[in-house]
Amino acid sequence: MLDHLTVVRHPLVQHKLTLMREKTTSTAVFRQLLREISLLLAYEVTRELEMTHKHIETPMRGMDAEVLAGRKLALVSILRAGNGLLDGILELIPSARVGFVGLYRDEETLRPVQYYFKVPSELDERTVIVVDPMLATGNSSVAAIDLLKKAGAKRIRFLCLLAAPEGVERMREAHPDVPVVTAAVDEKLNEHGYIVPGLGDAGDRMYGTR
Ligand code: URA
Repeated sequence: MLDHLTVVRHPLVQHKLTLMREKTTSTAVFRQLLREISLLLAYEVTRELEMTHKHIETPMRGMDAEVLAGRKLALVSILRAGNGLLDGILELIPSARVGFVGLYRDEETLRPVQYYFKVPSELDERTVIVVDPMLATGNSSVAAIDLLKKAGAKRIRFLCLLAAPEGVERMREAHPDVPVVTAAVDEKLNEHGYIVPGLGDAGDRMYGTR
């Protein structure tokens, strides 16, 4: 079983993350690094997928070899920044099913409001990996996971690049059954809900908007 929080301290992950944090890193390089780092993080978050055996013939003889068990896993991207992580993971797991959750923040209530929700069928039979690069306040991640549980998901993991202690705590309270995998837990959130030292706005940095 994955712990509630896994920080992937692999040297390649940490080196790439540092390059992504630097404010002088260009959009193109940021996107390339995000793709590379997402492969390494995906390796960690899929560490305990269930396996089964299948009989195959090698050129030498027959054998019972390991293959992934059960239904194809589901990757669910929280729009829009989740798509940056999604693209890399899909290179590693091209047969994964993909869903999208779109949420915006109501400026009066400050609560996340759903504007898009499309997920694969039979969610209850799949491992569901929710991807969003930044676990900041945790509001949108918790809301997205609420929606996925309502849609039937039972075995959920949350994958991000950077987390704030506040977001990790919020997830632990709201969804103690959902392990979080990240490359780093930073110091804190600032008064605007940004992670410090962080890397800025992940969506803006990967898409060159601002
Ligand atoms: N979203 C971002 O893109 N960056 C943060 O620091 C927090 C939330």
